[in-house]
Amino acid sequence: MNLEIRKVWAVYFSPVGNTEKAVVSLAGAIGAKLGVPVEKLDYTLPAQREGVNSFQKTDLVIWGTPVYAGRVPNKLLPYVQEHSIGNDAFAVPIAIFGNRSFDDALIELRNILEANGFHTIAGAGLVAQHAFSTVLAAGRPDQADMEKIENFSKEIVAKISTLKAYPKPVGVTGANPPQVYYTPKGLDGNPAVFLKAKPKTDMEKCNHCGVCIRRCPMGSINPNDPSDIIGICIKCHACVKRCEQNAKYFDDEQFLSHKRMLERDFTRRAEPEFFL
Ligand SMILES: Cc1cc2nc3c(=O)[nH]c(=O)nc-3n(C[C@H](O)[C@H](O)[C@H](O)COP(=O)(O)O)c2cc1C
Repeated sequence: MNLEIRKVWAVYFSPVGNTEKAVVSLAGAIGAKLGVPVEKLDYTLPAQREGVNSFQKTDLVIWGTPVYAGRVPNKLLPYVQEHSIGNDAFAVPIAIFGNRSFDDALIELRNILEANGFHTIAGAGLVAQHAFSTVLAAGRPDQADMEKIENFSKEIVAKISTLKAYPKPVGVTGANPPQVYYTPKGLDGNPAVFLKAKPKTDMEKCNHCGVCIRRCPMGSINPNDPSDIIGICIKCHACVKRCEQNAKYFDDEQFLSHKRMLERDFTRRAEPEFFL
C-alpha cells in the first residue's frame, strides 16, 4: 500500500487569525520535513465557502477550527460537514481554544472528518488568545507553544513513515457523541444570554475603511453603513480586532459579564494537548 504524502493542506476558519497562525505553522513544519508543497484553504469568508473540495489519498490535511461554546462553531457546521470529500486523505483535526477548554470540539471535528472520508492520524487542542479578551491567554500561541507545535510536526512525520495501512481514527478526549454546547456564565454564575448581541460602532472613530465589512465571516455588515448589522452576528470579534481605529465594541451587559467571568475564573495557563 502506497502511503506517500505529496501535499500538505492548511484548512481553517479564522475570523481573528489565531487558528490560521497555528494551522499554517503546523502545516508548514510538516511540509518542510516531508519536502512537499503546502497549500492554504481558508473558509472564513462567505465567498470562500461556496465550492466543494475534493482531496486525494496523497494529501495530508491539517484542519483547524476555533472552539466556540466547546464545539465546532455551529454556523460553520454545514460547511465542515458538506463541502469536503476526503477520498482517503490523511487528516489532523485541530481545535484552537481561548484558555477555558476545547470540551467536545476536537472529537466533533475528528468525527466529521472521518465521516467525510478522511483518515485522522493525529489531533490537538491548542491554546490561543481568547477573541473576547485582551488578557485571556494574551500572546498565545507563544514561544513555548510553537516549540510544542514543532515537536508535534516531527511526531506526525514519524507516524506517517511507520504506517502500513489506514489506521483507526485518532483517539482524542471529549464525549462521543459530542454533548451539549457550553452555556456561558456571567459573574454571578448564572447563564449569560447574549445570542442577540451585536457590535456597536463609534462613528467618531470610524474612517469608513471597510475592513469590518470585508472581514465579517457572516457578511452581516451593511456595505453602505458599517454601523448597521444586517445579518447574524456570531460574536467572532473579527470586526472588533481588525478595526485599526478601535471603532467596534460590544456593550451588551450579559456579554460583558461573561467576558469578565472568564477573565476572573480562567487565569491559569491552559496547556495544549496532543494526540497521536
Ligand atoms: C463565540 C466564541 C466562543 C468561544 N468559546 C470558547 C470556549 O468554549 N472555550 C474556549 O476555551 N475558548 C472559546 N473561545 C475562544 C476562541 O476559541 C479563540 O479566541 C480562538 O483563538 C478564536 O479563533 P480565531 O483567532 O482564529 O478567530 C470562543 C471565542 C468566540 C469568538
